[in-house]
Amino acid sequence: MTTKTDKILIFDTTLRDGEQCPGATLNIDEKLVIAKQLARLGVDIIEAGFAFASPGDFEAVSKIAEIVGTENGPVICSLARAIKADIEAAAQALKPAAKGRIHTFISTSDIHLEYQLRKSRAEVLAIAQDMVAYAKSFMADVEFSPMDAARSDPEFLYQVLEATIAAGATTINIPDTVGYITPSEFGAIIKGIKENVPNIDQAIISVHGHNDLGLAVANFLEAVKNGARQLECTINGIGERAGNASLEELVMALHVRRQYFNPYLGRPEESQESLTNIDTREIYRTSRLVSNLTGMLVQPNKAIVGTNAFAHESGIHQDGVLKNKLTYEIMDAQLIGLTDNQIVLGKHSGRNAFRTRLKELGFELSDSELNKAFVRFKEVADKKKEISDRDLEAIVNDEIQQAPDLFRVELVQVSCGSNARPTATVTLRTPEGQELTDAAIGTGPVDAVYKAINRVVNVPNELIEFSVQSVTAGIDAIGEVTIRLRYESRVFSGHAANTDIIVASAQAYVNALNRLYAALQTQQKPEGVSAQKV
Ligand code: KIV
Ligand code: ZN
Repeated sequence: MTTKTDKILIFDTTLRDGEQCPGATLNIDEKLVIAKQLARLGVDIIEAGFAFASPGDFEAVSKIAEIVGTENGPVICSLARAIKADIEAAAQALKPAAKGRIHTFISTSDIHLEYQLRKSRAEVLAIAQDMVAYAKSFMADVEFSPMDAARSDPEFLYQVLEATIAAGATTINIPDTVGYITPSEFGAIIKGIKENVPNIDQAIISVHGHNDLGLAVANFLEAVKNGARQLECTINGIGERAGNASLEELVMALHVRRQYFNPYLGRPEESQESLTNIDTREIYRTSRLVSNLTGMLVQPNKAIVGTNAFAHESGIHQDGVLKNKLTYEIMDAQLIGLTDNQIVLGKHSGRNAFRTRLKELGFELSDSELNKAFVRFKEVADKKKEISDRDLEAIVNDEIQQAPDLFRVELVQVSCGSNARPTATVTLRTPEGQELTDAAIGTGPVDAVYKAINRVVNVPNELIEFSVQSVTAGIDAIGEVTIRLRYESRVFSGHAANTDIIVASAQAYVNALNRLYAALQTQQKPEGVSAQKV
């Protein structure tokens, strides 16, 4: 196990910490699709989940370990509390991976010790050391996190880190669990660790941070300058509360400003060599995929992946960019995989052209997925003359979405207008195969459709978010609908794409209801674990 790296390692925790935000819950197949894309993106480590948390989490870690954790693939990691049963579950789930990592953690801040753990520093020190040694008995690659490190007493932190490295931790991760720290303070913590932990050279220093004050990315960059060599982040910055540090922002900051960061990694300032192993051209697609499958929308002005990130509205800017892109653009949109919205296919394109373009775009579909996607493509091509790469992505993302297929939309019909009462009729196929039709009046066509669907499905819920976005410009554009609904204290999301936004709205709603319905049928998580969302 090497503890030296000449690159900044990217540890993606979209499937663990990212998935913890309300409504972002993914099923196993969706996690697998995302994990495959993360591997294509080039992340070094995928934190695939928290194996002990539930049978579903265990299976997801295990499947990702088997299918994505190949010899040339990324390291697959499972989170585990510093508890034997958690560590055993993680080790078991990671067995199929060529390269597995157990990531174990316990809090070290006095506030957590006193109120949450009710343990003394001496007890926590002993547990941390023992549980790292226990994890080490299963695998060579062990990561340890002193939770709430950013608010921990530095002297105690040094002690815990020295002990856990001695016990076998190969990565020590410094979390800013509550998103409290500022960049210079975080840099100082990393510097202090390098100077005061005698065996620090035997481990890689990693950082993990939440974005409560909007500082996560800035904090990480300061940590890199002071010796951090692994960054724990999520796609689109999703995660608990204000989210985690965003992968795309970190990677592009390190890429665009590599001349600034090079000397901190001991490289000549002018070196053009990449600082991470990420294939930046896969960023945009990964962002879309995660947004579609989690139902977590990307704000238009989000750095790097927001729809406005490369748009120039002001006349002065447009004029400058036309004369020379460098006047107002610090990076090329193509660098993150944003193509020039090429018109690639049309209604006469055959299956071969369709398959070839999808392959060029990096989609690997099974025969049955390809067949389903091709049928959708033909339907769309009948309504929309020209199909661009963005349209293809929307079609395929929609088809590979793995929401449980319980209720199915068979028919949607609306009547509305300026002097009409919006009325909808829907026919749904039930999980038992029965076709049920109902109708309702609403304040608008979508409201009427949702009311009619509710009359059929009959699971009380509250719609808390509804959004329509057009995939491309033009009157015949595909519309993507993303919705979130609440059932008791849980949030479920749904997503669908269609040239008819009323149909997309119905499908997105049924998609979310299917997730709700499936959740009602599955068992509870083991006691105490839901409270352990970290
Ligand atoms: O935020 C946090 O402290 C965590 C740890 C488990 C690394 O997610
Ligand atoms: Zn976290």
